[in-house]
Amino acid sequence: MNKNDIVIETKNLTCRFGNIIAVDNLSLQIPRGFIYGFIGSNGSGKSTTIRMLCGLLRPTEGQAVVLGYNTALEPENVKKHIGYMSQKFSLYHDLTSMENLSFYAGLYGLTGAAKIRRIEEIIELMQLSEKRTSLAGDLSGGTKQRLALGCAILHNPEILILDEPTSAVDPTSRRMFWNMLPKLAQENTTILVTTHFMDEAEHCDIIGFLKNGCMIAEGSPKKLKDELPIKTIIMEYETPLAALQDLNTSGINYLDAYVFGQKLHVLLPKSESPGILKNYMPADLTMEDIFVYYDKQQSGKDKSK
Ligand SMILES: Nc1ncnc2c1ncn2[C@@H]1O[C@H](COP(=O)(O)OP(=O)(O)OP(=O)(O)O)[C@@H](O)[C@H]1O
Ligand SMILES: [Mg+2]
Repeated sequence: MNKNDIVIETKNLTCRFGNIIAVDNLSLQIPRGFIYGFIGSNGSGKSTTIRMLCGLLRPTEGQAVVLGYNTALEPENVKKHIGYMSQKFSLYHDLTSMENLSFYAGLYGLTGAAKIRRIEEIIELMQLSEKRTSLAGDLSGGTKQRLALGCAILHNPEILILDEPTSAVDPTSRRMFWNMLPKLAQENTTILVTTHFMDEAEHCDIIGFLKNGCMIAEGSPKKLKDELPIKTIIMEYETPLAALQDLNTSGINYLDAYVFGQKLHVLLPKSESPGILKNYMPADLTMEDIFVYYDKQQSGKDKSK
């Protein structure tokens, strides 16, 4: 298959748990070699979608096709070709780094010289050489994360699915982790990642924004920003409260205002003029603004049907 083939496709994918619709008629396509980011507030359906894509959970309606395999009908074929890593990292804490790698290599059917060679490649790639004999339970959060990623890609999966891979690690480890992802994508690995960090979402080729199980916006970070009918201004007053008071007495119809350091960050409809304010500067929209904007939108669907 070529780059730009669609490797993950869902059509009207739906999952209900009793009255709750966790995933609601989700249709998406992810091309090979892309980094696709799922964002959305807690409970918006990201992990449930991932579980259906991995063949771990049967859809109530609709379907997911991964690398040509229907995930409900051929889950074993799907599992062979994907690497999956969850926030909990799924490592054996009483085994060393090497023993964890060796265990997962065995699960993926690697043996003999090929197994040894691949484990060494992973140790090099994930910078684990000094931690070979350390127990996984004793590793720092960042090293655990690299070891878990190493375990997830031992079998050179065509698709890597990462559910909140950075939620438990420090900013340096997060950055190191995100530096690795484009390298994997350049080698044609397709990556589906969920995150609550908007600076991470900025690094994705495509972002899908989920709300109440529905996709309410999708596109590159630039496209999402360009299409948004809002703009941002920054108000810098003696105190953020003074800025908020001026904003509130101005009569300006704003969508949201939040304090950032000593400044007030305000989202306005594009048509609204802030000219009446005593002191403001226009600012670029951030992914955080996009999140806040979409999170306040109605998905138009009632969650419990
Ligand atoms: N096994 C289950 N049984 C019942 N309800 C479930 C189950 N799994 C998920 N849900 C519900 O489905 C909805 C979607 O949950 P999901 O875990 O997919 O959200 P999420 O976007 O991954 O959230 P988070 O950002 O907190 O990880 C939530 O309302 C959740 O409570
Ligand atoms: Mg989740």
